[in-house]
Amino acid sequence: MRRGPIWALLLHNIDLERRIVRICNNPELNRINKKNKQVDKPINSKLYNYLLADLRKAMDTSSIEKVKKLYEETADSYEEMMNGEIELPIYSDILSRLAERITNTPGPVIDTSCGSGHMLHLYNTQFDPKRSLTGIDLSQRMVEISSTRLGSSAKIIIGDMCDLSMIKTGSAAAVISFFAIHHINPKQVMAAFKEWHRVLSKKGQLMVATWEGTGQIDYQDETDVIALRYKKDELITWALESGFKLDKCTIEPVEEIPMEAMYLEATKI
Ligand SMILES: C[S@@+](CC[C@H](N)C(=O)[O-])C[C@H]1O[C@@H](n2cnc3c(N)ncnc32)[C@H](O)[C@@H]1O
Repeated sequence: MRRGPIWALLLHNIDLERRIVRICNNPELNRINKKNKQVDKPINSKLYNYLLADLRKAMDTSSIEKVKKLYEETADSYEEMMNGEIELPIYSDILSRLAERITNTPGPVIDTSCGSGHMLHLYNTQFDPKRSLTGIDLSQRMVEISSTRLGSSAKIIIGDMCDLSMIKTGSAAAVISFFAIHHINPKQVMAAFKEWHRVLSKKGQLMVATWEGTGQIDYQDETDVIALRYKKDELITWALESGFKLDKCTIEPVEEIPMEAMYLEATKI
């Protein structure tokens, strides 16, 4: 069989972000393309979906213990960072929309990875002071920080966003998950979406934010925790397959961060 340029391709020549394959010479395998051709070939949707699914199979996130350790160590500086971040209009936009949408839906708002509690606090003080609130987080230090911030206006507990067995089926008005699903692999994200769907009442709202993309998050030398970026299509598929109706999914640039944030809003049907 004649071996072609694809056979000699190194994996880093597949660029899923730009949806191209860089056809290159590979001297290590003695492969020099005809007339030294080095071109970019587009990847069609069928091949893209195949490659992405294949890539995901080989990717896993760091263990829950390692993620917990990261946030135990960084919770205080995270809180400090969020003191400024929470002023960004995106948080008020999303939370005011959430309050409007659940005006007639009883039940708590549950933040499944509440971190320093800034989102629940903003929600409580600006948009829906009578609503009962529950914050869940893996990190004990984050739970302490959140509890101090929210006082008696929320119940804050240590837990895993993928397992809300302490919450009754169909009882919650909303589930929030901001910048945490990058710590779980695709199978766990699917399981988490199903769990969030279970606890929500009919017409309950789901608000998810995460980092958009295909590869790992580049933490530079801050940590060696492996966390994953997800594509818009993947996030939407998980929401729809878990029984949600999609209301909105947007991708937004973030100042001083070389990644884009993705925001999904969905309703339990
Ligand atoms: C980047 S912080 C985001 C915190 C908050 N949602 C925000 O947007 O400010 C990620 C948070 O997710 C929590 N976390 C990570 N994995 C978790 C899990 N499996 N269950 C619950 N919380 C988790 C971490 O402890 C940390 O507080």
